[in-house]
Amino acid sequence: MSERIRRRRTRRSPLRRAALIGAALVVMGGLSAIAAPTVSSASPLPTEISTGQQIFTKNCSSCHGLNAQGVTVNGTVIGPNIQNAGAAAVSFQMSSGRMPMAGPQQQAQRKPNTFSPEEIKAVADYVGGLGKGPGIPNSSQYDPTGLTAEQIAKGGELFRTNCSACHNYAGKGGALSNGNYAPPLTGTGVTNEQIWEALRTGPQAMPVFSPSQLSDDDAKSIIAYLSSVNSAPESGYSLGGIGPVTEGAAAWIVGIGGLVGFALWIASRGARAR
Ligand code: HEC
Ligand code: HEC
Repeated sequence: MSERIRRRRTRRSPLRRAALIGAALVVMGGLSAIAAPTVSSASPLPTEISTGQQIFTKNCSSCHGLNAQGVTVNGTVIGPNIQNAGAAAVSFQMSSGRMPMAGPQQQAQRKPNTFSPEEIKAVADYVGGLGKGPGIPNSSQYDPTGLTAEQIAKGGELFRTNCSACHNYAGKGGALSNGNYAPPLTGTGVTNEQIWEALRTGPQAMPVFSPSQLSDDDAKSIIAYLSSVNSAPESGYSLGGIGPVTEGAAAWIVGIGGLVGFALWIASRGARAR
């Protein structure tokens, strides 16, 4: 027993040393960032980029490669090329705890993230600088404060047209093909910024919605709609899931019934014409 513990300790010590060196580097990076003359807060400082690269090398490169070029082993993609994924994709994936992924799995899970906002921004700026791709939005792009009831209602319409097929009418999420699922968008702590980033970067099985499909104003009204659903009393929206289901079932029966009737009608006409 104690033998096993000792062995585990010694096995871990190189790791711990690496962690200490890493921490020292981060502290040094931080100190030099303070010492360095402040240029502009908009463009990332070189020290921030190098901090981001260090975090990336340690936590991400085993699957995405040292230059984010992706890793493929025997035809299996361990991690895709993310050079053009954009800072917004990194911010989304890390802040929602999906990345770093724990290991090979069907779909990355939302989970508590272990990085500080500064660390996430550093990695996002590093990866963002490798190629093109959407940048991290500023709050004026996703903060829905002050939108009118009319704009929120429009957000609901846009949500039903563009999102509910996968995420369900009430944003409760749903199963997709191949064992994938669209996660719930309410009650799980999804932030307004994450909604914007998901829209623009299309994680996993979700499509990308470009600004020509959904403008920033459209995105903001969808965000406003989802926060209104989130802050509404539970009973008003879930109805135990019965509302949307019956609605869907009714649409299905009427729709399919109509199609069958139409097909029969065409068949009978075809037969008569012959
Ligand atoms: C165990 C392997 C693994 C590790 C470690 C890992 N990833 Fe990933 N990553 C994947 C896989 C597989 C996908 C594609 C599947 C998916 O998106 O769910 C992915 C997808 C991504 C995407 C989405 C790409 C896109 O087109 O939107 C980003 C961004 C990303 N990873 C960043 C990171 C960052 C940053 C880290 C480190 C903090 C990291 N990953 C660590 C395996 C990994
Ligand atoms: C084709 C199906 C599909 C459509 C359409 C779709 N999504 Fe998604 N969405 C997904 C999937 C799948 C994921 C999970 C991705 C993953 O696990 O990496 C997701 C994830 C998300 C997330 C992240 C939630 C979390 O738990 O972190 C948000 C936010 C989101 N979608 C919003 C939207 C919005 C808003 C729309 C409409 C404009 C939309 N989605 C349209 C399939 C879809």
